[in-house]
Amino acid sequence: METLADLVIHNGTVVSAEATFEASIAIKDGAILAVGAAEAMPAARETLDATGLHLLPGAIDDHVHFRDPGYPQKEDFASGTVAAAFGGVTTVFDMPNTIPAVDDAETLAAKHAMAAEKAHVDFGLYAVLGENSITRVNELVEGGVIGFKLYMGNTFGRIPSPSTGATLEAFEEVAPTGKRISLHAETNSIMERREARLREIGRTKPLAHLAARPEVVAVEAVARAAILAEWTGARIHVLHISSAAELRPLREAKERGVDITGETCPHYLMLSSDDYARCGGIIRVNPPVREKHNQEPLWAALLDGTIDVIATDHAPHSVEEKTRRDIWTVDCGFSGVETQMPLMLTEVARGRASICDYVRWSAVNPAKLWGLYPRKGILQPGADADIAIVDLRRRWTIRDAETHSTAKISPWDGWEVQGLPLHTIVRGKFVVRDRILQIGTRGWGQSVHAIQEMPTPVPRNVDQTMKAITATERPSLRAAV
Ligand code: NCD
Ligand code: ZN
Repeated sequence: METLADLVIHNGTVVSAEATFEASIAIKDGAILAVGAAEAMPAARETLDATGLHLLPGAIDDHVHFRDPGYPQKEDFASGTVAAAFGGVTTVFDMPNTIPAVDDAETLAAKHAMAAEKAHVDFGLYAVLGENSITRVNELVEGGVIGFKLYMGNTFGRIPSPSTGATLEAFEEVAPTGKRISLHAETNSIMERREARLREIGRTKPLAHLAARPEVVAVEAVARAAILAEWTGARIHVLHISSAAELRPLREAKERGVDITGETCPHYLMLSSDDYARCGGIIRVNPPVREKHNQEPLWAALLDGTIDVIATDHAPHSVEEKTRRDIWTVDCGFSGVETQMPLMLTEVARGRASICDYVRWSAVNPAKLWGLYPRKGILQPGADADIAIVDLRRRWTIRDAETHSTAKISPWDGWEVQGLPLHTIVRGKFVVRDRILQIGTRGWGQSVHAIQEMPTPVPRNVDQTMKAITATERPSLRAAV
């Protein structure tokens, strides 16, 4: 008996990191069954004509803050994943700075249950790696974290940054698990001093935020983290790279063979200090949007592979929280999960990068870095049918009021873009079809930890770890006391 596909998509242009090609895609039981000529496709329950449209592997946004539980006025897992689906994003990794912060197995289990009930797209959950959770690394890994988040600097949620000593020990603990540690790489003590001084002298305007966090804040943090990762063999990922200057320690570490990767976000590529006057406090984000001269080097770093990933740091806050007068009281961050793809596709249309480059940064590389490839990140037989079907020619204007995040405020309001995700398919199911959220998609999203396969870990200097030096009793010392 011939196989009957659930869905066949005809006449679209399929995009991979290497090529674009005309092909049909057949889907069955949530997975891609076949990619090829229309006449080679099996019969299907349903077909979709994608004439004039591009089929991209759904974006994997490795950095979102869906605020659940804790901050329903900003976002929850339902609204956040709906926004993702409208943005062509089929998998998100959610950050742990919720209330309570995710730093033990019990909180993680509760968050998994909540997300499984609400999610419209697939997800992974991060746990905090801090002074309190060093001893809980194994329970968190068993509980299914996608990776760890370490805050080298204070940001929204005020999760304390671990000392260098605690960071080393944390890396030692995570290294043998093979999980990746994502870093908010800004050095806290530098920023704290500068912010205190600026506040003392009465600086309260938006640019004071940038003054408190100059590039050296990131340069120092990236360099230090790279040294600790090299020493321990821990895998690290530098989140939201904002400056040209921090590319040097990142590049040098990669050249030394450190398992270090990096991401940047649309706001560092397309906004600059020139936008502070227009946006006011709305633009306040950690790390800050910087001077324009950083943009070209960030693009170059994406193109040469120094930066691996495009993510969003989707950090929603309410209108009231973003429009306070004193910059130090404005919450940091803004929404982005829904607008990343249109913004980046606009740059593709302008010739900044190819559509294949974009797919490499938005889907292929994040899937590889978190052990999800080739189940996700590529449209080929056997992969999950996670597909963003986009019209690359559609010109439109971003309106915060029309986005699906609960937080209707961002620097992108009024921004003209080219490229619109029309349909978003997650494991074979339309979550968004013709720009309409499909009923019955709440709870369709699954945690991807079950399919994660990280490469074999390579811990280093294991004889010198905190565990190693405290494991055995030393009789001579005991005799001395
Ligand atoms: C993020 C948030 O609001 O949770 N804010 C931000 O400015 N980026 C935290 C973070 O990722 O630093
Ligand atoms: Zn961060």
